[in-house]
Amino acid sequence: MKILLATSELHPFSKTGGLADMVGALAKFLAKAGHTVGVVTPLYGSVKVDRATLQPLDWRLDLSIGLRVAHGTIKTHTTAEGVTVYFVDQPELYGRPELYNDSAGDYPDNPERFIFLSRAAVNLARYLPLAVRPEVLHAHDWQTGLVPLYVYHGRTREAWLKSPKTFFTIHNLAYQGRYEGPRYGSTGLPWDYFHTEGAEFHRDFNMLKAGVAFADQVTTVSPSYAEEIKQIEQGCGLEGLLKRRAETLSGILNGVDYEEWNTTANPHLPAAYSAADLTGKDHCKAALQLEYGLPVRPDVPLFGTVGRLADQKGVDIQLEALEVMLEEDIQFVMLGSGSKPFEEGYRALAEKFPGKIACRFGFSQGLSHRVEAGCDFFVMPSRYEPCGLNQMYSLRYGTVPIVRGTGGLNDSVIDIKEDVSLANGIKFRDYSAAALTKAMYKAKVLFKESELFAHYRANGIAVDFSWERTCQDYVKLYKRKG
Ligand code: ADP
Ligand code: GLC
Repeated sequence: MKILLATSELHPFSKTGGLADMVGALAKFLAKAGHTVGVVTPLYGSVKVDRATLQPLDWRLDLSIGLRVAHGTIKTHTTAEGVTVYFVDQPELYGRPELYNDSAGDYPDNPERFIFLSRAAVNLARYLPLAVRPEVLHAHDWQTGLVPLYVYHGRTREAWLKSPKTFFTIHNLAYQGRYEGPRYGSTGLPWDYFHTEGAEFHRDFNMLKAGVAFADQVTTVSPSYAEEIKQIEQGCGLEGLLKRRAETLSGILNGVDYEEWNTTANPHLPAAYSAADLTGKDHCKAALQLEYGLPVRPDVPLFGTVGRLADQKGVDIQLEALEVMLEEDIQFVMLGSGSKPFEEGYRALAEKFPGKIACRFGFSQGLSHRVEAGCDFFVMPSRYEPCGLNQMYSLRYGTVPIVRGTGGLNDSVIDIKEDVSLANGIKFRDYSAAALTKAMYKAKVLFKESELFAHYRANGIAVDFSWERTCQDYVKLYKRKG
């Protein structure tokens, strides 16, 4: 099939979270399966690609955003697997170091930046040479939420024959790209799409909602989350629309790119290991304790976490639980950045419990692998989690995940209460520090039960979330709709 993906971040070029991993891997494994795959994404100032290798495409984007016309160009890059990345080059909109914000907050022109991206993706889908013109145009998250609407508009009002089927994947319903109503004017679309079953949400302009309303098929990144978002607690105000679209809404669990996330041939790790021989993991643990300046002790359970310090991730209950748990003989390492009060919370714990907890604030791909490998337990107490990738990485790294049973965490981790023989993690239900503390205590006990601990680890390493399977599910859906 010919498939074009549209995304605001793409591993290995730009990334703030799992969206980049997911779209990067989806493109890669679709291409490996023999499909013709392109990805449209911005050329940010920070994009990790050698500019000299980019090929300019003979293409001019003269697209109106509001009252002005913005000019852009396309530069292509072909990956080792044959994916064509269409970088949208518009220095005024994208030539900034960060993707979405700076220290002052979100960039105020984010709606225009992502209207332009969505228009660029649709423009390519419509006019690319026939050999690569897509049958499926697959947009991701609010930043490309307008893609399905622009296609719908082309189809119904501009006689766009053979328009691609549109797919829209929700990676996180809490981020909707919601702006004051008049900003809709920047889309250049007629105002008759601005209604409660379209791009309007309580008089505001809502880009994610446009995607949900106009896509031929809506997906999300785990079966559990697909159910949760139809309920008021997790629906973020869109549960009604999602329920009405239930027949075209499905959940497909993300995969893991094991070519990158593995412990046998990983340039980021100080030692290799596998299920057959875990001694390299002991080495990774010692090296991690050293890297974080903690006492190098094999006998102490080492807990860790990596992630955005956002409300979603359960940082508040994590901090509270640590107040209690750090009185015990345990160690904790964290890597993350985000909300300043949360960062302060970790700093305060590090001061109160020196030698037991150490923190690194910032973004480091290499260190994220080392935390996954060096810890005994990986903690993910998310308030909600559409899929979550870190717990799946942990399983493969022989690091037992402690998760709250929500969304993709629920779908990917097995607690002993669910299945004794397949148990690979510790799950708790209540969103509370007490429930998390109890789960961490259980982990501490498990750590001393060496046979049972080995059973959990072996089960985790054996779990297979290969992208090949996830891709097949998407292709089935592309074909059904296409
Ligand atoms: P989300 O997308 O909600 O942030 P996921 O678990 O799906 O959560 O994916 C997070 C991805 O981002 C993982 O690949 C994780 O390793 C990475 N990540 C998050 N924070 C950092 C950080 N500070 N440094 C390096 N990688 C990070
Ligand atoms: C979002 C979600 C996360 C998911 C990722 C990739 O960022 O928060 O749960 O794993 O997208 O789909």
